[in-house]
Amino acid sequence: MSMHAEDDVIAANSVERSPASSLASSAVPAPNADRAVASRTRTFDTRRLSNDFTDQGAFLYLEDFLAPEVTAQLVQSARGLLDEVNRNYLPGHKQGGSVSRHTIDRLAPFIAELYRSKELIGWLEQLSGDKLQVSPADDPHAYALYYYTRAGDHIGWHYDTSYYDGRRYTLLLGVIDESSCRLDYELHTRNPDVPDQPGSVQIPPGGLVFFDGDKLRHRITPAGANEMRVSLTFEYVTDPNMRPWRRFISNMKDAIAYFGFRQVFRQMTKRRKDPA
Ligand SMILES: [Fe+2]
Repeated sequence: MSMHAEDDVIAANSVERSPASSLASSAVPAPNADRAVASRTRTFDTRRLSNDFTDQGAFLYLEDFLAPEVTAQLVQSARGLLDEVNRNYLPGHKQGGSVSRHTIDRLAPFIAELYRSKELIGWLEQLSGDKLQVSPADDPHAYALYYYTRAGDHIGWHYDTSYYDGRRYTLLLGVIDESSCRLDYELHTRNPDVPDQPGSVQIPPGGLVFFDGDKLRHRITPAGANEMRVSLTFEYVTDPNMRPWRRFISNMKDAIAYFGFRQVFRQMTKRRKDPA
């Protein structure tokens, strides 16, 4: 087995991917996010899905959610951003790569448009029964791509803890899955009245998982050699305020575990210099 599984994957994909700087002008034209979302959501029985979401302790999995043209656009972006991936390794907890919203804003603006889609947010509000807002501009998790490209890439059991004053919902979209990675989860762990219920899914491209981050205990199992998995995460909040000490913990966690100090604290410095 190669010590450089990710390099092998990058080499294997080098013919079909274009340089990151030209992502916006690459072959597959970006669809209209609102129209593409509506073309799918109008076919769903949203009331039934909302009941499923509630019954499962604020969790829903749909194997086939995105319109095919949206999935194609995301796959193209995910491959095109391989050079931008920030690798992280936290022994015993996490190993993998990520591309933050700040890089996505520069190089893959369709993802930012999809994140803000009123059709998407409105549909998620119907599922959750909560009024949802986009995460603040300096939150690198608001939308991010997560890469599992080397043998052993994984994330251990955790909750997507909200550091905000309100709830934070995670929307996970499958983008590339040429891997054996699974999302393992446990429902109802925070509800003493309902027995814990374990589950496991492999999210295909275009698939969706939506959950309340404080309620779903979950992990991604380790990738094997020469595998590749990319998922896209959107985070929505019910109250974007965050107390200063929580912000400090959240920033440190992001810098160490996900995006690197440069990405996280450059945004903070920029904000201080330019309060507008
Ligand atoms: Fe998570």
